[in-house]
Amino acid sequence: MSKLDKILKLPGLVDVHVHLREPGATQKEDFRTGTMAAVAGGYTQILDMPNNTPPTTSPNALNQKIDLAKGKIWCDLGFNFGATASSTKYFRKIENKVFGLKVYMNQTTGPLLVESEEDRDLIFKSWPSSLPIMVHAEGETVEIAIKLAKKYHKSLHVCHVTADQINAIENAKKENVLISCEVCPHHLFLNQFDIQKLGPFGLMKPPLLSKKDQEKLWSKMDKIDMISTDHAPHTKEEKMNQPGPKFGVPGLETTLPLLLKAVEEGRISLERLIEMTATNPRKIFKIPTQKNTYVLINSKITYKISNKNLFTKCRWTPFVGMEGRGEIQKVIIRGKTVYENGKFIGRPIGKVIYPRI
Ligand code: DOR
Ligand code: ZN
Ligand code: ZN
Repeated sequence: MSKLDKILKLPGLVDVHVHLREPGATQKEDFRTGTMAAVAGGYTQILDMPNNTPPTTSPNALNQKIDLAKGKIWCDLGFNFGATASSTKYFRKIENKVFGLKVYMNQTTGPLLVESEEDRDLIFKSWPSSLPIMVHAEGETVEIAIKLAKKYHKSLHVCHVTADQINAIENAKKENVLISCEVCPHHLFLNQFDIQKLGPFGLMKPPLLSKKDQEKLWSKMDKIDMISTDHAPHTKEEKMNQPGPKFGVPGLETTLPLLLKAVEEGRISLERLIEMTATNPRKIFKIPTQKNTYVLINSKITYKISNKNLFTKCRWTPFVGMEGRGEIQKVIIRGKTVYENGKFIGRPIGKVIYPRI
């Protein structure tokens, strides 16, 4: 019948937006468990975000992450650098080691927030690389980012795009601004109604959309460059405890099954899925190609997503109870089987990666 009635061979998926929490919050996740979750979800290359405590805003902090990751990672791992007014002085030093510069223009998890106009201007002006400035810019804040990208001719990547932002991004594309955007699975597969059931487990930034905006996002999929998980694990206790909820949800292990289910339902084609989860992120972030690396999936299997059998240290998913499709049989990285039928094999052979220049 459909293309899904067989063993599927996909390229290793790529996620430019994950929070692996090491160092600083390894009760939530660490390089080992985070990359295991990635591989179990079909990803073979992922990029880690800088909002750790301490943040990745200096060459020392970046080198510390690189050292911590070596020998522990099950897939290839690269890094994004954190922007603050004072981290601009390091940009030239680190530009060849990172895939993107992350600017937090709104408050979220972690210590990074750049609110002043002056600091934002300085950051955009100082970024020396042709690689993207990645922004957490909710709602209309995205327009400030677009203005700065235009002013300084920088490449801009809008993280976790929401329905209200697509027009501004489209217009910027028409004006030849170098701009890309990503959509997250929680905004595609959940909406505000799910918060009743999920409580704090349905809280993230930007928040879940109305049903109408969720549908609008689906209708704009052809305008969106890639799908990123924004894998942002917090422990169950941290999610439940006061004061203040922790924002963010894990996503690495559930994105592919949810997307394959969407392929079955005709909401996205398999070709577009591959473009949005592998081809485009590799191209836009200059991520090196991986030889002899692929994922074999028994795509006939449909199952209910559960909190069991997850490799993420937080051990829960906001997609619990939803239907997923496809069981990963094997993940092969550089010719070596690293994962087969739910088990990891051999040693962690992931490499720390750097952009192709
Ligand atoms: O919900 C979120 N969680 N949004 C972010 O921007 C950060 C992330 C996190 O690191 O927990
Ligand atoms: Zn964000
Ligand atoms: Zn994030």
